[in-house]
Amino acid sequence: MKRIFSGIQPSGEMHIGNYLGAIKNWVDLQNDCENIFCIVDLHAITVPQEPKILKRRIREIAKIYIACGIDPKKSTIFVQSDRPEHSELGWILNCFTYVGELSRMIQFKDKSEKGGADSSTVGLFDYPVLMAADILLYHTNLVPVGEDQKQHVEIARDIAKRMNNKFKGLFTIPEPLMKKETARIMGLDNPQKKMSKSAASEYNYIMLRDEPEIIEKKIKKAVTDEKGIDNLAVIHSSFSGKSTADIKKEFAGRNADFKKELAGVIIEGLAPIQSKLRELDKNPAYIEKVLKDGAEKVRPLAEKTISEVKKKIGLG
Ligand code: TRP
Repeated sequence: MKRIFSGIQPSGEMHIGNYLGAIKNWVDLQNDCENIFCIVDLHAITVPQEPKILKRRIREIAKIYIACGIDPKKSTIFVQSDRPEHSELGWILNCFTYVGELSRMIQFKDKSEKGGADSSTVGLFDYPVLMAADILLYHTNLVPVGEDQKQHVEIARDIAKRMNNKFKGLFTIPEPLMKKETARIMGLDNPQKKMSKSAASEYNYIMLRDEPEIIEKKIKKAVTDEKGIDNLAVIHSSFSGKSTADIKKEFAGRNADFKKELAGVIIEGLAPIQSKLRELDKNPAYIEKVLKDGAEKVRPLAEKTISEVKKKIGLG
């Protein structure tokens, strides 16, 4: 059985782009693979975080995983910093990674653009190595990620191959799992760019917890140029299962009707998730238990990998 590892940073609230582009696909993989879904809090602190908010968001991601259909009985859900082996392996991998290869990472270039590389943290620069540790620690076969993370899976493969060459058979070489038809959901107010919680206007996104009236309002205001309509059709299709071509044909020249119908489809699609979230909100002890059990479940494999790596490279 193939092992899957993926993670989400608890650095913002979740919108439908996160759900349709990531978690929804993971839910579909649950029955065919052994799944590990992590809440990557150590990645989140590569940029400034408010401690209280971070703590709340870690729990929020756990709730969202479960509410969206990740079943803790089938999949392991845990918090990255609850397993110290991630940091430990990360450090070791650092010593087999070149500054030059990290300097080529597009995400670092993007994220450090504003303040410049000199005022970015070393953690932000090193982020792909910690991600490689996440993946390699569990001998992961498949890493379901979006296009923007493909380069990071590539570097994990490069590091693994490099160390395997030197130390023979240390790591499983992971493959990125990119679903072609995976929805790339664009901003409602600016369909040129990905939907993003950090967008200037709240009319850019629909959050998983948005109330029906808010959803209606946001869809009503959505841009309907060619790209905008394409994006709205993708959202419709992701929730309804209809093809985007059929949707566009059905509503050609009837934007107002289309928006009304779309808002309904989203509201209906989110209703079971929102009701499950409300239920989970009332049961924080359950969430704590899921996370604790998850971290214990992956412990043996994490410890085994670390001890093998240390032995092979001459430590411990
Ligand atoms: N970097 C990923 C993102 O922002 C999150 C992540 C961290 C991840 N570790 C991972 C994804 C390991 C897949 C596998 O989307």
